[in-house]
Amino acid sequence: MKIVAVHSRFTGSTHAIALMLLDEIGRLEPGAQIDEFCVAGFKPCVGCFSCFANGEDTCPHYAEVHPIATAIEQADVVVLDSPTYVMGISGAMKSFLDHLAYRWFAHRPHPSMGKKIGVAISTTGGSGVRGVTKALKAQFFGLSMAKYYRLGFSIMAFNWGDVNPKKKARIERAVRRTARRVVALSGKAKRGLFLRLLLWGIHFMQQKNDWFPLDHQWWKDNGWIK
Ligand SMILES: Cc1cc2nc3c(=O)[nH]c(=O)nc-3n(C[C@H](O)[C@H](O)[C@H](O)COP(=O)(O)O)c2cc1C
Repeated sequence: MKIVAVHSRFTGSTHAIALMLLDEIGRLEPGAQIDEFCVAGFKPCVGCFSCFANGEDTCPHYAEVHPIATAIEQADVVVLDSPTYVMGISGAMKSFLDHLAYRWFAHRPHPSMGKKIGVAISTTGGSGVRGVTKALKAQFFGLSMAKYYRLGFSIMAFNWGDVNPKKKARIERAVRRTARRVVALSGKAKRGLFLRLLLWGIHFMQQKNDWFPLDHQWWKDNGWIK
């Protein structure tokens, strides 16, 4: 089992919960291979459209994006974590995720995505956490992954050390529950009906796609269109 965790920061409460999840998965599945990346300081997408039109290797930030994108393609489980900043996901995580637009279902979804499980993690001081885990879940959906879990907590604290012990115990229970589900489902997850229907609809669009020939060719090469 391969897991990739993309952290917004290598510190903080959200990161602490992500580590808790990785530890628990590692305990349940001792052979699990865990790759971790941190996107703090990631350069924003410049909006050049070159990934769509000329290939992802022409992105000005390809050197930074490629290792993480490859690890995601090779993983069974993808963990994305972001603190809640002004009711939304961190700028660093958004900057990274924008670079994966070429892998969205309407473009060049990777064939390996169909069995992947995503876990979205966030914490907030007070409010906004549901919106963040929902936004991260939308990324898993866009990447056409099979199954998603959300771990979002309002921790009422500025740092992990100050979190009320009862709340920490509740978080630990939720994390353990999610880890058990992830391990049980790993390799067996299947896309939901809505996403399958959407991909079926897009295959018609791709047959006529002359605006991004690379996307058209990708669908052809993968045998999804004639
Ligand atoms: C720039 C910034 C924006 C924040 N925005 C919100 C917010 O909109 N709502 C909220 O309840 N807490 C907000 N917080 C508090 C954080 O969500 C909270 O402390 C969170 O647990 C931080 O996670 P971290 O320790 O993983 O960085 C904000 C904190 C920062 C630094």
